[in-house]
Amino acid sequence: MKIVTVAGARPNFMKIAPIIKEFKKHRGWENLLVHTGQHYDEEMCKFFFNDLGISEPDVNLGVGSGLQGEQTGKIMIEFEKILFSHKPDLVTVVGDVNSTLACALVAAKLHIKVAHVEAGLRSFDKLMPEEVNRKLTDQISDYLFAPSPDAVENLIKEGIPESKIFLVGNIMIDTLINFLKKAEKSDILKRLRLSKERYAVLTLHRPSNVDNRQSLTEILSALNLIRERIKIVFPIHPRMQKQIKDFGLENLILGKNNFIITNPLGYLEFLKLISEAKFVLTDSGGIQEETTVLGIPCLTLRKTTERPITVKMGTNIVVGSGKKDIVDAAFNVLEGKAKKGQVPELWDGKTAERIVDILANSD
Ligand code: UD1
Repeated sequence: MKIVTVAGARPNFMKIAPIIKEFKKHRGWENLLVHTGQHYDEEMCKFFFNDLGISEPDVNLGVGSGLQGEQTGKIMIEFEKILFSHKPDLVTVVGDVNSTLACALVAAKLHIKVAHVEAGLRSFDKLMPEEVNRKLTDQISDYLFAPSPDAVENLIKEGIPESKIFLVGNIMIDTLINFLKKAEKSDILKRLRLSKERYAVLTLHRPSNVDNRQSLTEILSALNLIRERIKIVFPIHPRMQKQIKDFGLENLILGKNNFIITNPLGYLEFLKLISEAKFVLTDSGGIQEETTVLGIPCLTLRKTTERPITVKMGTNIVVGSGKKDIVDAAFNVLEGKAKKGQVPELWDGKTAERIVDILANSD
């Protein structure tokens, strides 16, 4: 079987790592790794590839940044050429970024089967580009690998035949389990002069939070109250960096006591950082899942989550982006009222194995 596996943006890399490893175990399976180049900075890509032991991509489409349509279109144009020359039997896409939809769409139109890993997640907020990517990718995929029962239900409600849907567990957790021991050795706490549970970690990059001056100001004001009580470590995403500068909000963040700003971190150091944190504030998707497995309280700075199981079973609370809500939720954790949780079923490190078994046993 000839497979093309696609990765484009940072949250894709930890999802493809265990799948590629499992593909390699199958004699007669040939996998071509295509990096679309949606993310291109060393910190957003190379450090992840190194940390996760993924070999260099076979092809890099080098599309870079752009408007939604522009970026998606560029990926489609370049990816179609790869499919014409390589003629795979299957294209594997993961997650919900623009690269996911663009490549799934090209493959489906060329009648090449598509496997979508992390299918069925829904925030029901169509203003998020990721929600559009998720819904459309699922509609055109042949194998829908869902991480949780809620995802399966969403797919059934959207009319996807049950024969295409497979509950396999959470692929990111395969990587977390594989790398936790190695991450423990990271010296990131020492480098940033931190001690266990004496700091919170913040990540922020969603357009709804950072592309709007008012909401960004609101969040930064909340953080300024929280940092009076606990250090906040903030590995800063390029999108956020740009917006702070463009909106002239440097005075709310730079040079502030207890605000530790770093460049984006590698996978291992970030995993170490969150695993020893008092709590995490984030608008990312995957971090809601990682904190649930690590048992670290997570405050999600969004109105919705496409990962409700992390709220139902895990340590996650969706607090929104309002100043008071954020501050109240953080102070609750500091006062010992953090949410405790359990790890969802099948988030056990064996998801890639289950995916490959299913692919190997289907026509
Ligand atoms: C993308 C994904 C998002 C994911 C996030 C993780 C979509 C729609 N969004 O958002 O789901 O959570 O990645 O990081 O696919 N930039 C750089 N260097 C890079 C990459 C980006 O400087 O290597 C800057 C550019 O100014 C770019 C901006 O960041 O315009 C946004 O990048 P983009 O890939 O469009 O979206 P993300 O916000 O990273």
